[in-house]
Amino acid sequence: MHIDILTVMPELLQSPLSHSIMKRAQEKKLLTVQVHNLRQWAVNDYGQVDDYQYGGGAGMVMMCEPLTKAIDILKKEKNYDDIIYLTPDGQTLDQKMANQLSLKQNLLMICGHYKGIDERIREHYVTKEISIGDYVLSGGELAAAVLTDAIGRLIPGVLNDETSALSDSFQDDLLAPPVYTRRAEYKAWKVTHILFKVYIEKIQQETKYLKLK
Ligand code: 6GU
Repeated sequence: MHIDILTVMPELLQSPLSHSIMKRAQEKKLLTVQVHNLRQWAVNDYGQVDDYQYGGGAGMVMMCEPLTKAIDILKKEKNYDDIIYLTPDGQTLDQKMANQLSLKQNLLMICGHYKGIDERIREHYVTKEISIGDYVLSGGELAAAVLTDAIGRLIPGVLNDETSALSDSFQDDLLAPPVYTRRAEYKAWKVTHILFKVYIEKIQQETKYLKLK
């Protein structure tokens, strides 16, 4: 899978995507992520990509021109399955949506800033609007990182058996069980009783089997 991300703050995306499983996915070439600084397509030498709202109102809006130029150039290179706009009024991300998106080949994510992007970009380019929860962030970058992580780890081959996504919480609408490390008792805090029971039953089964042999 390839993901292009359009942003005015590329630095915000660097770190979350260069560690752990996201790092491995990219090293294995199962996932490629390219972050593009929208200011490359700014309307002037000051790097302007936003403007006052047409008709008035507080806050700046990301302009049509830089976004149009950027998207048109990127669309010449790739045939996008979806052009995603990260916005708090989008459809809320859940595991089912992540599963569906993980089957795609090429995605373009647009990170909004200020008061958002000119509505015409949403009308003419965007095919999916996604939010990562019911609260407002300062921009779409952290949401794009969350979405990329949620999707990237589901690409076949990214996770190994031990980290398999199949046993994740939410994958079957169930929460994953509590987990422990050795020892069974630490500072008088005990590994939960039920886990012991399962373990003892397993030992009993094995003992019975050995006796039968
Ligand atoms: Cl995608 N963007 C912003 N700015 N805030 C959010 C969000 C996205 N999802 C939840 N809050």
